[in-house]
Amino acid sequence: METRASWNSKLGFILASAGSAIGLGAIWKFPYVMAANGGGAFLTVFIVFTLLIGLPLLLSEFVIGRHAQTNSTNAFSKMTGRKMFDGIGHLGNIGVFLLLSFYSVIGGWIIIYFVRTLFSLLTGSHHAQYDELFGVLISHPLYALAGQFIFITLTALIVAAGVEKGIERASKVMMPLLFIFFMVIIIRSVTLDGSMAGIVYFLKPDFHALNRDSILFALGQSFFSLSVGFGGMLTYASYLKKETDLVQSGLSIVGLNILVTILAGLAIFPATTALHIDNAEGPGLLFVVLPYVFDQLAFGQLFYLIFLLLFLFATITSSINLMEINVANMIKGNDARRGRAVILLTILLFVVGVPSALSFGVLGDVKFLAGTFFDNMDYLVSNIMLPIGALAFSLFSGYVMDRRIAEEELVIGVRYQGLFKIWVMLLKYLIPVIIILVMGSLLFK
Ligand code: ALA
Repeated sequence: METRASWNSKLGFILASAGSAIGLGAIWKFPYVMAANGGGAFLTVFIVFTLLIGLPLLLSEFVIGRHAQTNSTNAFSKMTGRKMFDGIGHLGNIGVFLLLSFYSVIGGWIIIYFVRTLFSLLTGSHHAQYDELFGVLISHPLYALAGQFIFITLTALIVAAGVEKGIERASKVMMPLLFIFFMVIIIRSVTLDGSMAGIVYFLKPDFHALNRDSILFALGQSFFSLSVGFGGMLTYASYLKKETDLVQSGLSIVGLNILVTILAGLAIFPATTALHIDNAEGPGLLFVVLPYVFDQLAFGQLFYLIFLLLFLFATITSSINLMEINVANMIKGNDARRGRAVILLTILLFVVGVPSALSFGVLGDVKFLAGTFFDNMDYLVSNIMLPIGALAFSLFSGYVMDRRIAEEELVIGVRYQGLFKIWVMLLKYLIPVIIILVMGSLLFK
């Protein structure tokens, strides 16, 4: 018999979903992708996509998840009686598995940096050349693989504990602290000499700097960062009771996600100009810049250590959602099978993730299509699979799903009736057209 877990409170759900959204996407990926794709204008396009495309899709995942009360593959056939729509869930499952296989590499970096900073604190040693340090730490195969393995295992332990005990409790504690830390870093960053140029670079859009690729990257980033397009939010919403206001939850999550994206940018870019660090550092940007900023603070190393812990937490609240999607589909509501599913996934993820972990060291010269193996995985998932998943979600919600179900889930009395109509229009017309145009334009480069 199905024994489904559920969230203990509305706040638990919002925190868990916000925790799932806010992670490497907003904090680590956004700054370097933005730097490579047109600077401030990228931020504007990202915010527009997040509000016009990400938010409606988030609501659509909520509607499907809460209504169907099942995993992200069976949900589609349960709602329509037609098995073929489960394909949307299967695509999401593959996407999310691949995503986690390289996501865990960066999660591993945070662990490596944590251990390294702890070591420096304890021994009093200090390595002030952070760009060089990044190269040394990340390229070492043993460190890279150990970091990745520990990250996957930590994620697995929380997921194995089950949705109420593990995920909800884990999501409640650290996020507010992370905000406070960001405020401290930002204050330090913007008060450095020469920071103004970085603030302007981040916040002032220059639309000439955008090209077709940057628009696709902004689209992919909005899905990656909100965790929509692969059924993650659907999965969490399936543990949700009827009373929760989905629109309010969706707005809170999107608002928090945009806020953290801006906070991360404000922490990093003023410091890069002030400290003369090249914005085009790539995936290492955050790991190179922030230690310099912390060095400018009293007890900087100690604060950096605490920051890394909070950052790791934000990342793990995302990775547990990613893994939960696969687990929910494997156990199909029977929590007795959870442990075995988690062990199997841990092994598979680690094996598939190995080439990504080694892409910054021994496999660094193996390049094809989008770059290294890591780059290709990221490109495939963020810029191809997520947009296709998002397109499928919008077409399903706009054309296939019974409108009354969505209305019942989203509209409360007369509240949100106007918004509901806009939501339907966006899903039926604007979102599919934008996704098709952005992806299609790449075929005619
Ligand atoms: N939304 C998750 C993140 O940005 C995947 O980290």
